[in-house]
Amino acid sequence: MYRFVLHTVVLGVLLLPLRSSARCVGEKELIKLQNRLQRRYWERLNVPQPTSPQQRAPTCAQVSKELHEDTQSRSLSPWRYRLDRNDSRFPHEIYVAECLCAGCIINRHEDHSYNSREVFSHPMVLWKTSCPGDPSKYAVRKKFIRVAVGCTCVRPVVRHAM
Ligand SMILES: *[C@@H]1O[C@H](CO)[C@@H](O)[C@H](O)[C@H]1NC(C)=O
Repeated sequence: MYRFVLHTVVLGVLLLPLRSSARCVGEKELIKLQNRLQRRYWERLNVPQPTSPQQRAPTCAQVSKELHEDTQSRSLSPWRYRLDRNDSRFPHEIYVAECLCAGCIINRHEDHSYNSREVFSHPMVLWKTSCPGDPSKYAVRKKFIRVAVGCTCVRPVVRHAM
């Protein structure tokens, strides 16, 4: 966790020239910025990747009955990964966790007295749009996005009687 925070801070300083206002860059400079973000940030982030990209999409009932090796299926709140692709964003491909159950798997059955909830990370990405003043260039902005990285089992919200 400390390492993650440190990298986030270090990268924030390294990418300072980008700020929130967009900067127009050519194709070469865009690739440089993307490579830099990849090397100095994304490669060091502990962003979960699916065990196999072509994984099946099991249902809650299926994972609750079967025996599995991987954490995402053995969790009381199992999840799968959906590939999110957008070519205007860098990285273009990000895996997003989706909870398989509404409740949690207790003793091999889905128990609805608990709830599965996503756990989020907020990594930095680059967004490109065409440059208003020069269509041959790109306007590049850095942005923090919210990405579900797994699921956890929570107790239901208790509503107190007034
Ligand atoms: C990529 O993201 C932009 C901004 O959120 C959105 O407008 C666009 O529809 C997305 N493209 C795809 C292919 O999802």
